[in-house]
Amino acid sequence: MQSRRILLVDDEPALLEVCREGLNEKGYSVLTASNGEEALQLLEQEHVDLVVSDIKMPRLGGLDLIKEIRERHLDIAVIVLTGYGTIENAVECLQQGASEYLLKPFDFSRLTHKIEKVFEERRLKQYDSEVGGLLHILSLERELSMELDEPSLLKRFLRHVRKTFRPTALAYFAPRQERMEPLIVLGQYFKDNEALEWFEQAADSVASTAQPRLFDPMNIAASKLAKKIALSGVSAMAAPLNAFYEQDGVLVIVRDTQNAPLNGNGNGRSNGFNLNDLQLFSIFTAHAGSAAGYHRSCRRMQRMNVEFITSYVQAVEAKDPYTKGHSEVVRDICLLLGEALGLDPDQLNDLGAAALLHDIGKIGIPDEILNKPESLTSAEQRIMRRHPAIARDILAGVKSLNSILPLVYHHHERYDGSGYPDGLNGEDIPYMARILQVADGFEAMTSNRAYQQARGAQEALQILQAGAGKQWDPRIVEAWIHLVENGDAPRFCTMSPVTS
Ligand SMILES: [Fe+2]
Repeated sequence: MQSRRILLVDDEPALLEVCREGLNEKGYSVLTASNGEEALQLLEQEHVDLVVSDIKMPRLGGLDLIKEIRERHLDIAVIVLTGYGTIENAVECLQQGASEYLLKPFDFSRLTHKIEKVFEERRLKQYDSEVGGLLHILSLERELSMELDEPSLLKRFLRHVRKTFRPTALAYFAPRQERMEPLIVLGQYFKDNEALEWFEQAADSVASTAQPRLFDPMNIAASKLAKKIALSGVSAMAAPLNAFYEQDGVLVIVRDTQNAPLNGNGNGRSNGFNLNDLQLFSIFTAHAGSAAGYHRSCRRMQRMNVEFITSYVQAVEAKDPYTKGHSEVVRDICLLLGEALGLDPDQLNDLGAAALLHDIGKIGIPDEILNKPESLTSAEQRIMRRHPAIARDILAGVKSLNSILPLVYHHHERYDGSGYPDGLNGEDIPYMARILQVADGFEAMTSNRAYQQARGAQEALQILQAGAGKQWDPRIVEAWIHLVENGDAPRFCTMSPVTS
């Protein structure tokens, strides 16, 4: 395991030497500085896990050293060493973010005990933060997998980002004419046009490198842009957010550090973003990009299925001139009725597809039976009644349509149990199949068929009412009557009977 690195800061060379030797023997790597100013110079160049510092020192004392560490967003724990006369200063150091203090003169074993305690606390905190990060990722995954359309997905993702990282401002940039421009801007900070311009440049750079970036004061030397951003009193992160609206954008989140409250966790950190935050933020944006890509593929697949459905339905309806367009009208009635009954978008999707496909099994029924103007013989009826099972067998080969199989298969059941193919009754019949039955019944009655002339809407409603509880679910019949009588379904009530 790599040894922990400790920076000892004290203006007593003898004390530094004794502690250095002792800590080296304990396996720690040790750096020394004789005052706060020297310590800060070392911190700019070297990685350090813990600072053990005296309070009273020339040039820069321990309290100011702690303040500097906090203002520079350094993730370093501090233990202060103090004499009895400066105990008030020690308390102030704790208030500023020091983890522990030790009274001088001290026994060396007391110092090592405090050091081990601080490292153990940080290890636990790191563990909590990693577990917390994992929980955030799992929770994001759960949320994103629930969304279907892209605007809801983006909205839900941004809400999750705000909940997790608690930014004071947020902006999503997308390419416009070879430049990054803001599409979504939240928070007062970006009302300042200059700040918005800086982040347009930052988004350009993140998009061109495809690398996430942390803008914190320690990067001041690295770029003028980062310096401007840091001096405006914020800590910021930017990461590529690809695939939304078929664009490769950049998400920026900003947190105000000027008015940062002390977090009181005793390790000298302020509320600026750090590298752990950047790692989690990158995972978030990458995950959201994948989700957007996945949803786009699903939509493409759905479109292909709709085309497939439509061509099949046309093939079926072409066999019977009287039923041409029947399935589309049934689908439209189903969507209207389903929405009124409070179905969610996924259910409406299934119901619409089932309505389009419900009679697809007729493709396996001989034309002379389908188009027979007279009543069917009982042998012909037996053949005709096979069409729901034929439909189920055809559609069973299309995995993405599995959810609609029960609706198609049971669309000729009757509420009183006298229907087919399984003789199910009441609520044993799938709910959406019962909606489909009402829509199918109404459409069939109000259009011309080989065996009947079209009825008017009022007459069809009376027949539905008379059959409520026998052929149809009474609550669904009632909902349809309510829609028609309210004038909410005019399109389906003005079809004038056609004579052939
Ligand atoms: Fe049918």
